[in-house]
Amino acid sequence: MALSRDFAPRSIIEQVERTGIKGRHLSFIDDLSTDELGDLFLTAEMFEPYWKTGLELLRHRILCTLFFQPSTRTRFSHETAMYRLGGNVLTESNPMISSSAAKNESLYDSIRVISQYADVLVLRHPDEERVLEDIERLGSDTIPIISGGYGNVTHPTQGLLDMYTAWRAIGGDFSAMTVMIATPDLSRARSGQSFALGLARMGARIVYSGTTGLRTPDVIRTKLDAANADYQEYNDLTIVEQEQLIADEGVDLLYLPGCSVKKGDPGRDDFMRKMEEYYFTVDGLRRIEQRSGKTVGVMHSLPRNEGEFDFAIDQTPHELYFKQISFSVPLRMSLLANILGL
Ligand code: CP
Repeated sequence: MALSRDFAPRSIIEQVERTGIKGRHLSFIDDLSTDELGDLFLTAEMFEPYWKTGLELLRHRILCTLFFQPSTRTRFSHETAMYRLGGNVLTESNPMISSSAAKNESLYDSIRVISQYADVLVLRHPDEERVLEDIERLGSDTIPIISGGYGNVTHPTQGLLDMYTAWRAIGGDFSAMTVMIATPDLSRARSGQSFALGLARMGARIVYSGTTGLRTPDVIRTKLDAANADYQEYNDLTIVEQEQLIADEGVDLLYLPGCSVKKGDPGRDDFMRKMEEYYFTVDGLRRIEQRSGKTVGVMHSLPRNEGEFDFAIDQTPHELYFKQISFSVPLRMSLLANILGL
């Protein structure tokens, strides 16, 4: 046994300094390097004892949440994280009704104005190109902006909380993990794609199961290729074939990004019909376990719809989707503390 040279009590402030992402925007999960991702997770682990009780590290700092699309988890958990750190929150969850966006104020102007009030902004918006262009144009005239989901392609804080949950659930070595992302529509699975980009950064294996014609968007494929990601894609598999694939590939975690097609949209019925081949059950997970010896963890970004998968999984050790919600708070405490600085 050797005595470690840098042996010292752990300090949240030193950990945040080491992460070194103060003042940065977060649009895509691969805006963060491997080291920065690792440091975010280490900070989150240090915040875990406080995720219900809180600690006063961001007193007098203000988070603004501006959501142009509906949300429960992303908005509330960022707001919870800010309150748990002793900060304050300005929230706008219906900007097309109750903010000056309803009077045609541009997103650019809204962000520039909000930047005079708040210290950090979490923004959800349906048009990723509009947002990314405005961030570019705003330059230094804006506070840090964290994506709470842009368009169909990016939801980085969801990807981060999914990675953190995976890291806590099955251990710290991402390169030993195989994750299957299964949905009929990979083209609109922004949470699954953000998780995939983060996993690729950390060297995990990714298995996609989707549908011909609804493949992973090119912007994500380019990023996966740039990261030398180890990923394979399968299309149009039946549920039985998917179970076999999970067992044969030694999948550790099954990620279900859920239905991205809103109620009333023409594609929704088609999506739900295709979901029949993605209806993973407790019995199916048992068959996989007999074949591969693995208790596969089931993750889902939520909200979920009846018919997406067997809700009896809730009462089994496979369930990770509600645990993701718990881990989202220390993870987002880590993100806010690191982007604002202490
Ligand atoms: N997972 C997720 O983004 O949920 P919300 O839409 O409720 O924020």
